[in-house]
Amino acid sequence: MRSIKFAVYGLGPIGSLIVKYGLERSWMELVAAFDIDPLKVGRDVGEVVGLDEKVGVIVEKNVKEVLDKTRPDIVLHATGSYLDKIYTQILDAVKVGADIISTCETLSYPYYRYPEISKKLDEEAKKNSSTILGTGINPGFLLDLLPAVMTTPCLKVEKIIARRIIDASKRRESFRKKIGLGLDKKMFDEKIKSGEITAHVGYAESVCLISHALRLKLDSVKEYQEAIIAEKEIELGGIKINSGKVRGVRGFGIGLKNGEEIVKIEFTAAVGIEEEFEEIIIEGLPKLVWRNLNGTPGDTATVAVVLNYVPVVLESEPGLKIITQLKPPSYCTYFEQ
Ligand SMILES: NC(=O)c1ccc[n+]([C@@H]2O[C@H](COP(=O)([O-])OP(=O)(O)OC[C@H]3O[C@@H](n4cnc5c(N)ncnc54)[C@H](OP(=O)(O)O)[C@@H]3O)[C@@H](O)[C@H]2O)c1
Repeated sequence: MRSIKFAVYGLGPIGSLIVKYGLERSWMELVAAFDIDPLKVGRDVGEVVGLDEKVGVIVEKNVKEVLDKTRPDIVLHATGSYLDKIYTQILDAVKVGADIISTCETLSYPYYRYPEISKKLDEEAKKNSSTILGTGINPGFLLDLLPAVMTTPCLKVEKIIARRIIDASKRRESFRKKIGLGLDKKMFDEKIKSGEITAHVGYAESVCLISHALRLKLDSVKEYQEAIIAEKEIELGGIKINSGKVRGVRGFGIGLKNGEEIVKIEFTAAVGIEEEFEEIIIEGLPKLVWRNLNGTPGDTATVAVVLNYVPVVLESEPGLKIITQLKPPSYCTYFEQ
């Protein structure tokens, strides 16, 4: 059996789950783990991510030196949402010739916000025989790759609508914090403006990924989001939201052509929603409607997408890639055969 050496960069809730579920794949061998939190550095990674046993890998902060020594095939990265803040971390992996998959939302379609950084990453990746991919559940799969793939049996497509409604009380603490749960509206708006919280990141990236897959040549892409305010006190999943405070966010990504909305992405994350679901509507010939009545659990699904893309990325040509350029993924046991 081929063994794939992997490193995990960032041990927050997502990176911790990557360690946990990565170790369950018999073909993956963890060789390094990185974080900057002094409470994590220097400890065994098994202990840091909440496993019952030690793994034999110590959490390090000296990324370059340890990558150079351990030489992973792939680095799985989960530290931040904005590429301008984390691209030097991506380069750490690229410089040792490792492939890298990151959950950084703006890396899923990096050309939209960061064309210059994208150019540099692509050049460096090609120079060092490394492949870079940004993905996750959203952006990265549910509201972009999946609707794009769903248009395959259509002879004609006029409009794509993709929506996702999730119960924020079931999500990790860092997610609840970034959508401003419990704040008053004024403070929510101020924190969004200052960048202290981001709410959801990736509406425009999802629109751009669909546009790239269908070669839509959109005239423009718009995105916006707003707080959802509790009309009465809500107590759910250990969270209490007072009446008049933020109980979630709702936002949209829109792709326009000739004045018409031809792509519309909608995402709602709130405490106290009645039903979690995803829905994709393809207006075309034929008209297609798909609905996942269960809703996809965002944190573990993000980790699954990352892990299932490992074989795809390892087999891809070097360079900065977007998911709509790569072989379609699936749950993958490739290296176990
Ligand atoms: N595309 C998707 O579908 C998707 C889904 C889920 C999450 N995400 C994104 O993935 C990222 C990770 O999620 P999360 O909830 O685990 O985030 P998080 O709670 O912010 O955790 C990030 C971890 O990385 C550490 N870190 C920050 N800068 C670092 C650096 N330079 N070197 C090493 N470690 C560093 C942080 O340490 P400190 O705490 O000390 O700063 C923290 O332990 C977030 O940006 C999130 O928005 C994307």
